[in-house]
Amino acid sequence: MVRKYVFGNPFETEAIVKEVEAEQGTPAYGEISLEEGFSFTYRLAEDDMVYGLGEANRGLNKRGYCYISDCTDDPEHTEDKRSLYGAHNLVVISGEQNVGLFFDYPSRLVFDIGYTREDTMKVSCEAADLYLYVIEGENAYDIVKQFRKLIGRSYIPPKFAFGLGQSRWGYKTREDFENVAKGYRENQIPLDMIYMDIDYMQDYKDFTLNEKEFSDFPDFVQGMKEQGIRLVPIIDAGVKMEEGYSVYEEGVKNNYFCKREDGSDFAAAVWPGYTHFPDVLNPEARKWFGDHYRDLIDQGIEGFWNDMNEPAIFYSKEGMEELKQTLRKCIEDDVEEIPVWLLGDKVAAMANNKEDYKRFYHNINGKKIRHDKVHNLFGYNMTRAAGEAFERIYPDRRFLMFSRSSYVGMHRYGGIWTGDNKSWWSHLLLNLKMMPSLNMCGFLYTGADLGGFGADTTRDLLLRWLALGVFTPLMRNHAAVETREQEPYQFERVEDFRGIIETRYRLIPYLYSEYMKAALEDDLYFKPLAFVYPEDSVALRVEDQMMIGNEIMIAPVYVQNARGRYVYLPEEMKFVKFSKEGAYTEQVLEKGHHYVEVALDEVPLFIRKDRCIPVAKAAQCVEKIDTTNLELLGYEGAEYTLFEDDGIHKDYENPANYKVLKK
Ligand code: GLC
Repeated sequence: MVRKYVFGNPFETEAIVKEVEAEQGTPAYGEISLEEGFSFTYRLAEDDMVYGLGEANRGLNKRGYCYISDCTDDPEHTEDKRSLYGAHNLVVISGEQNVGLFFDYPSRLVFDIGYTREDTMKVSCEAADLYLYVIEGENAYDIVKQFRKLIGRSYIPPKFAFGLGQSRWGYKTREDFENVAKGYRENQIPLDMIYMDIDYMQDYKDFTLNEKEFSDFPDFVQGMKEQGIRLVPIIDAGVKMEEGYSVYEEGVKNNYFCKREDGSDFAAAVWPGYTHFPDVLNPEARKWFGDHYRDLIDQGIEGFWNDMNEPAIFYSKEGMEELKQTLRKCIEDDVEEIPVWLLGDKVAAMANNKEDYKRFYHNINGKKIRHDKVHNLFGYNMTRAAGEAFERIYPDRRFLMFSRSSYVGMHRYGGIWTGDNKSWWSHLLLNLKMMPSLNMCGFLYTGADLGGFGADTTRDLLLRWLALGVFTPLMRNHAAVETREQEPYQFERVEDFRGIIETRYRLIPYLYSEYMKAALEDDLYFKPLAFVYPEDSVALRVEDQMMIGNEIMIAPVYVQNARGRYVYLPEEMKFVKFSKEGAYTEQVLEKGHHYVEVALDEVPLFIRKDRCIPVAKAAQCVEKIDTTNLELLGYEGAEYTLFEDDGIHKDYENPANYKVLKK
């Protein structure tokens, strides 16, 4: 049961696609105050758990901290951070009462979930202009499924996107990319994608190519495809200001960029230096920006990643002016000592400065709206620009698309990656805990930078992280410039990496099938144990094991030097460990607590009682996986319904896509 309440004059975010009649009065849950902006206060019972918030820090159960929906480009995901790149305003209270709450509000929103007072959840924002959806259900899982029906079908990528991707900020030349392909192919490690970070562009200009390196780009793209590898370029939000650059000139001429109050185009410095932001909230500008993806599609590209779309600002013209004034003053006053603290703070405060978000405006159907009022919608609409263009221009084809910043609603147009994590063991665990929360908010095609983006990785961390990445729909190894090189072939005993990645490819028939079922049925691909075993009081609080699809549970090792881990089984399961060269072991484990050994080159999983999963032979790329000869692992007599289609078109509803397999 979904109830909708309207406060003030809400902005239409288009997060929700299902029509819901607005109610009169106030919700039966919590207390609403409109005294200072908007606040919703809910008394939490002692055992209540709170799910949701999608891309947010800390645990699966959000209770005990304060989170802020305010899309932020912050590469330091330490435990104290309250905002990451996304704004996913769903919370689901599970316990004495079961209720879901979605706050459809496009600006800064604070979720104090038992932080100020242990027994109180307070959700508040500055303007009392929002929609509040209140969802009642039998339990948290039921509520989440109702929410997913409200927000519409999740994005479905092409099947090749379930292969492994290799990325690094720093690949520049054609040779760099060819060397990655060679490194994989010579070591017989499966690979489907190589990501192109900002250096493929000419001077970081969107939709351009470095002229010297990629003079015959279609030939390069085609050559890679012949090796089973797709190139996936990055697109950044800011369009470089440069005379003669057609995207810039079109945007200026047609008023497609975000403007200052005085009508001039707002200038923000990002990688290319000063840029303008395409006004993706303006339908006309969105269409124009989206159409530009075609510049690369026409050269053979089938996927993209959208970045810096919070939007990230290194500094604005205004910010730079303020800094200069401070410096000038120092010189005028002929200061003896440079006030380092003051200068340092000034410089740091220039990036992603809240004041800058008040300096530019969107033109939404003729209405001027200051950016900070709709801040959390930028990444969503940049990705929507691309998604709508794909629909319009290539209605039958699926494209790979994921974004850094997002809001609920964007899940219909693309997935997300979780941004600039670090090569830290704690971030491996954070990756695991975040996945089901993202699924609750509709984001199914997700994953983290495996091995860690910032900081130097280690061989064991990368192996353990890949063993988790085997199960995340988006499986990509990505690292920052100047960090230790982390392609698998940079490390000793490359066969250990090959074994883990081959396991991913062996499981793709199952993982893809479960992804498709989750997307088509508005269900979760990653589930907390509590959603499957609601009566089990131990399972209820487990946060480091997850259910994947309907057949398996995973329990990754996330501690350095550990030779295994403790695991809780809510029912009897078959424990399977995949290792190199197609080998695996099986063991039936009783319900209860166990310690399981897992070596660095193994991928563990648990098959639920009386279920089975299909397993293929490894292949070098997704297209080469032989799905006609699948082996079934699990319990004798069990059946599995396999979803399989051509992986590129959209004939989802065809009954021929489903096949029953029997062990
Ligand atoms: C941002 C992205 C990262 C990318 C870098 C350079 O930090 O999050 O993935 O490598 O920009 O484009």
